[in-house]
Amino acid sequence: MSDKPEKFIDENGLRLDGRRVDEIRPMTVEMGVLSRADGSCYLEWGNNKVLAAVYGPRELHPRRLQRPSEALVRYRYNMAAFSVEDRIRPGPSRRSTEISKVSGEAFEPVVMKQFYPGAVIDVFAEVLQADAGTRTAAINAATLALVDAGIPMKGLVASCAVGKVDGQLVLDLNKPEDNYGDADLPIAMTEDGEITLLQMDGNLTADEIAKGIEMARKGCEQIFAIQKEALLSKFGTTDEEELLKEAELQAEVATSEDETEDVEVVSEVVSEVALEDEDDELKDEVDEDLELQDEGEAFTDDEVEDTSDEAEDLFGEDVSEFEINEGTESEGDSSSEPEGAESDEDEGEKNE
Ligand code: CDP
Repeated sequence: MSDKPEKFIDENGLRLDGRRVDEIRPMTVEMGVLSRADGSCYLEWGNNKVLAAVYGPRELHPRRLQRPSEALVRYRYNMAAFSVEDRIRPGPSRRSTEISKVSGEAFEPVVMKQFYPGAVIDVFAEVLQADAGTRTAAINAATLALVDAGIPMKGLVASCAVGKVDGQLVLDLNKPEDNYGDADLPIAMTEDGEITLLQMDGNLTADEIAKGIEMARKGCEQIFAIQKEALLSKFGTTDEEELLKEAELQAEVATSEDETEDVEVVSEVVSEVALEDEDDELKDEVDEDLELQDEGEAFTDDEVEDTSDEAEDLFGEDVSEFEINEGTESEGDSSSEPEGAESDEDEGEKNE
């Protein structure tokens, strides 16, 4: 590890990496980098390299962990063994368990979990190269991975840290500032400014904390802009004509899909009835089953009605068609479950 620098900020107000005190490191993002994940994002921020992957919503196993009225969001932060100067011991540690917990909670006000009762949304954040601020980098990547997975969200979440070096507050600490500085204050917030993560290492006065939060707010505004640019380049267009054409095309596809579905449902019902050679009562049962399957098997009729009513209030339209993404794991396969939700049998191992 490099020695403590004599000065962190020079006479021109520039930091060791040439940034001003209120500047964040250069950030680049790329969405949809993993084909097996439902959503993903690769993010570079200064020398940090982070990959976020989202799986779900999918049915949660073991079933006893399911929440009857909403989805469970599991977040796992992990540092690759090779991500730091000294090798990191693979597997969960006290630090990664804590970061996973608080980072998952940073998404609490934005992810609309009520649409997926009984389901789980897994967020994996893998740090490939660490250079201070990895938990904040992971949150920024995870936000875009969640959007990429099509998870309904009320808005984005951005995160950056503020610290103190040479008696001055600085935005987005680099490695020497983090290691040898007087304080580290990682913060995450929603677009409307609600703080969803705030941790502190070191010492700051109440006044410095208030100023630090304002600095972090400015940093997060820059990050929201980067995130929105990425979303626009992946999903959006500002060309009105193109938007209109796209909407018309989608309407056409929706109408033809409806017609095909009707035909399939009728033929399935007829063949099932013929096979069973049962009376009309059985035909009604099969019809009911197919209707239920259409809505997604994790929902009961009542739950579907409740959640779609709620969604209707929010979006002003019928959104009962939200579907649970197909699971990619088989029942009982907990090899890739985030540590926060391991089965009871595993818990003993985790608590070192
Ligand atoms: O990365 P973040 O600032 O969120 O967390 P930290 O605990 O403040 O760690 C700061 C930096 O120290 C990390 O980004 C890594 O570069 C480094 N670190 C390390 O080298 N070995 C560890 N076991 C943990 C962190």
